Amino acid sequence: MSHSVEIRIASDADTASKNVAEEFAKALQLKPSIVLGLATGGTPVGVYQQLVSLYQAGKISFQQCTTFNLDEYVGLGPDHPQSYRYFMQTNLFDHIDIAAGQTFVPDGVSNSIQDSCADYEEKIQSFGGIDLQLLGIGENGHIAFNEPGSDSNGRTNVVDLTENTISANSRFFESIEEVPRQAVTMGIGTILESKRIILMATGRNKAEAIARALEGEPGDDSPASFLTTRENITFVLDQDAASRLSGPTIRRTKEIL
Ligand code: F6R
Repeated sequence: MSHSVEIRIASDADTASKNVAEEFAKALQLKPSIVLGLATGGTPVGVYQQLVSLYQAGKISFQQCTTFNLDEYVGLGPDHPQSYRYFMQTNLFDHIDIAAGQTFVPDGVSNSIQDSCADYEEKIQSFGGIDLQLLGIGENGHIAFNEPGSDSNGRTNVVDLTENTISANSRFFESIEEVPRQAVTMGIGTILESKRIILMATGRNKAEAIARALEGEPGDDSPASFLTTRENITFVLDQDAASRLSGPTIRRTKEIL
């Protein structure tokens, strides 16, 4: 593993969320016009709650900032309660002072989805690239919806979801049949171009994926492992997600109490 990866282990998920939210708040204070890359799913919910509290306390403003989300389900429009646009509105955007036109989520219902993927890439470039990207990780090591086997240079694209991901995400739907089979996702190449990345993982079900990403050679069986090939990458874990790391890896982590 590259030693440029910073690993922080928090006593619990709440502490991990606070730590990540503080990083985002600091970055926002330093550069109000920052371009943020955002994730959905269970992992970042606590981070968004913290950011909303910091906003409500008058400590941060999102007025000048721009956001790009990692991914969106194909076939789910913005009003669908399981769409990632809906998730972002209800968990963050509706509660802060960000301008509606400054939040971007890939379009899952475009008639020409390939064109809209290319437009998304151009849009990111037109804002000067992503300054700070938040990532979760799948149980199979995916980042955004880049499943094992994805190209490490990939750009925003339409992808098929694996059975593992469909089953993991079915907890948010009434039944597994309702989970879309495809998604639009930033590629690993797109993600790796972010200036700084924070990957957050909590829970024992992520422990294997975290150990594989951080230990051993980067390879496409673990999309998250490609993150270790770069600088400016921080993994923020709770103790459960860190529970499969080997002794030498644990010894070089920072503890967050
Ligand atoms: C979501 C995303 C996914 C999730 C991952 C973990 O935008 O990009 O890669 O980060 O599936 O999901 P949770 O946090 O629900 O365990």
